[in-house]
Amino acid sequence: MTNNKTILAWIDEMKALVNPDQIVWIDGSEEQLEALRKEACESGEMIKLNQEKLPGCYYHRTAPNDVARVEDRTLICSRKEEDAGPTNHWKDPQEAYKMLYDIARGSYKGRTMYVIPYSMGPVGSPLAKIGVELTDSIYVVLNMSIMTRVGQKVMDVLGDSNDWVRGLHCKCDVDPEKRWICQFPEDNTIISVNSAYGGNVLLGKKCFALRIASYQAKNEGWMAEHMLILGVENPKGEVKYVCAAFPSACGKTNLAMMIPPEGYKAKGYKVWTVGDDIAWMRKGEDGRLYAINPENGFFGVAPGTNMKSNPNALISTQKGTIFTNVARNLDDNTVWWESLDKNPPVNAEEWKGAKVNGPEYIAEGNKLAHPNSRFTAPTANCPCLSSEFENPKGVPVSAIIFGGRRPDTVPLVYQSRSWNNGVFIGSITGSETTAAAAGAVGVVRRDPMAMLPFCGYHMGDYFKHWIEMGEVLGDKAPKIFNVNWFRVDEDGHFIWPGFGDNLRVLEWILKRCDGEVDAVETAIGYVPKAEDINLEGLDFSVETLKSILAVDNAKWAKEATGVEEFYKKFGDKLPAELRAELEGLKSRVNA
Ligand code: GTP
Ligand code: MN
Ligand code: MN
Repeated sequence: MTNNKTILAWIDEMKALVNPDQIVWIDGSEEQLEALRKEACESGEMIKLNQEKLPGCYYHRTAPNDVARVEDRTLICSRKEEDAGPTNHWKDPQEAYKMLYDIARGSYKGRTMYVIPYSMGPVGSPLAKIGVELTDSIYVVLNMSIMTRVGQKVMDVLGDSNDWVRGLHCKCDVDPEKRWICQFPEDNTIISVNSAYGGNVLLGKKCFALRIASYQAKNEGWMAEHMLILGVENPKGEVKYVCAAFPSACGKTNLAMMIPPEGYKAKGYKVWTVGDDIAWMRKGEDGRLYAINPENGFFGVAPGTNMKSNPNALISTQKGTIFTNVARNLDDNTVWWESLDKNPPVNAEEWKGAKVNGPEYIAEGNKLAHPNSRFTAPTANCPCLSSEFENPKGVPVSAIIFGGRRPDTVPLVYQSRSWNNGVFIGSITGSETTAAAAGAVGVVRRDPMAMLPFCGYHMGDYFKHWIEMGEVLGDKAPKIFNVNWFRVDEDGHFIWPGFGDNLRVLEWILKRCDGEVDAVETAIGYVPKAEDINLEGLDFSVETLKSILAVDNAKWAKEATGVEEFYKKFGDKLPAELRAELEGLKSRVNA
């Protein structure tokens, strides 16, 4: 499939290491994928679901000890420990290669090595990048061919270039004690052993598109971020794009696919999805920042997804989708997960494979689907997929939005005072523990730019890169905002209705970008005047709105103390600009 010497040499080297029975190159053809699906069903690796109700859909379950990303076994193997920084686990690359090669050696014996050439981003786009993943798992091949663009066309675009990322995945015996997910940013290399769970083995996603790419982006002057990308179309037919970074489980997929409230729909507002998890962004010819979604599918959490919470996501899973660790309905060979609907199957198979009576099993306090069970669905299925999804130039970004789960303190929305102040706001992103979770209540777990588990280098240098991107973009830089859908009342109930009604907040954000609406200056930035958030058609009082827009300087003084403590981690790698922003905040809240 290729004459690229660097690829052929590396495959030879890996072949000698893992010792496969045969090598199969994934060419991207439907015939080849269909043959693999058939093989996986014959071996029991996958189950073909009801093809009338779920055409092209398959079911897979992983080992019960292999159901999530493993952050403490995820290593950044830079030559200098300092370059991995205080927020990553580090291992010396020579020691890491030795450890991993010892585990991988001979592990493909009796098995097939699949070679997956893939593109992150539209094939041939100037914003796209190429990787090659070697795996001994058909499940990985089939998932990668949904999540990325794979096959011959990718090799054709790469030609002789050495600008590609090496990825070796060895399923081994799925031993959690020998499970390692290692990134070698200086070598453009990823090695993942002893796992078969998506986030650990679909190497294009978090490993490449965030950990390796964030490092490449710093060196090459672009940005790789844990952000959704969406377009808001107004009644005049103009579409403006925003990117938003929220930590995992804080609603990126929901926001990216939201359904506008009835009143907005009637007026002609539409929301278009470009991406729900990762954005790669680069300065375009006109000086503005442009974003692509490097992925080609959605790897979403199934539980909680239903026709009410996220109809576009649910519809996206109705064909050509792989379901992992959800429950099965044995009567009609379909899938089920918590809160899909109110009717758990009576004749059910729970996620580990035991046959149970669904309603009774749940009544005993069990879950039918694993809480982190997933769907791998093609973006092409998404009813609100943006027409710009395949645009190789990406979409121009008007606003960048940060957010997390903050029951208190942080208002519904505010705008940063400047780019650097926006970088400061991103750097203090986090979620607060509530009484619902174990551990201390009211502790903010900081997750800067939602990148804590995904930044492939020193977070202090990453902050500096953000500051520098602001200098490069100048007055064409997107405006930076912060949102918080998660303020709660005394009873712990969410105050803001959220979901589709978040469009009311996006509307204000976009008006701010166009200078169409005023704002109130506070100690933390610019907050909407209550009358500027459209509450039409919503049973929500202006008084309540005011309560979640209010900025309490005493609370923010406490927040600043928390940030000061958090910043100590970064030592002298903390950019002076962020130190200055913190001092500015302190002096304003204490004034
Ligand atoms: P990753 O894909 O893991 O990076 O996470 P994500 O950011 O896409 O989060 P995900 O969509 O999995 O998280 C959804 C959770 O947030 C669900 O529990 C939703 O109910 C909740 N959620 C999403 N949007 C809102 C909102 O506007 N208000 C409230 N209260 N909850 C929301
Ligand atoms: Mn998501
Ligand atoms: Mn994510």
